[in-house]
Amino acid sequence: MTRSDKKNIVILASGSGSNAQRLMEYFEHHAHIRVAALFSNNPKAYALKRAETFHVPALLFSRDEFYHSDKVVQQIQEFKPDLIVLAGFLWLVPLNLLQAFPNRIINIHPALLPQYGGKGMHGLHVHTAVVQAGDQESGITIHHVNEEYDKGAFILQERCPVLPTDTPEDLAARILKLEHKHLPRIVEKLVMEQS
Ligand code: GAR
Repeated sequence: MTRSDKKNIVILASGSGSNAQRLMEYFEHHAHIRVAALFSNNPKAYALKRAETFHVPALLFSRDEFYHSDKVVQQIQEFKPDLIVLAGFLWLVPLNLLQAFPNRIINIHPALLPQYGGKGMHGLHVHTAVVQAGDQESGITIHHVNEEYDKGAFILQERCPVLPTDTPEDLAARILKLEHKHLPRIVEKLVMEQS
């Protein structure tokens, strides 16, 4: 496979972008897959800087462009994505984007859905709720994306313990490790399985 034959991943990220970085590392020298671009809704997202470091095109969009035009869909289409990965992306995905890439958008969520999902349930909010509930385990869910927050079909769940002494930050760190371990291989599997 030459570079132009490679399968393309497009990442959407709103924040730090450590999962995005893991993907960019994992696929940097991959024979068949590359991270073609990273899109963000947040000009302050550290994910944009991480993309620059990996020489991955980083594109910013506004709420208006995302929800009231086809501009973002068209921009993403230019990168011919085989898979779109929401890696810490916090906005609901609009219908035009879902329809342009049916079954090709996945999300990673830092809890065992269907618990601790939905609007506002992201990052430390999730871990705070889990710790406050006194749960003894948490985990990650990688799932397809549909028109509702965190409601698409599951692809993978992995579990980890919640210790009685855990702060939300402790749990966040344990969950991130789990995400970094599993997200790249699941993305690789999904992309390679596509015809
Ligand atoms: C990750 O833990 C991801 O699962 C979570 O945000 C974090 C982003 O970290 N996503 C959600 O909560 C989505 N509802 P990162 O920017 O370092 O990859």
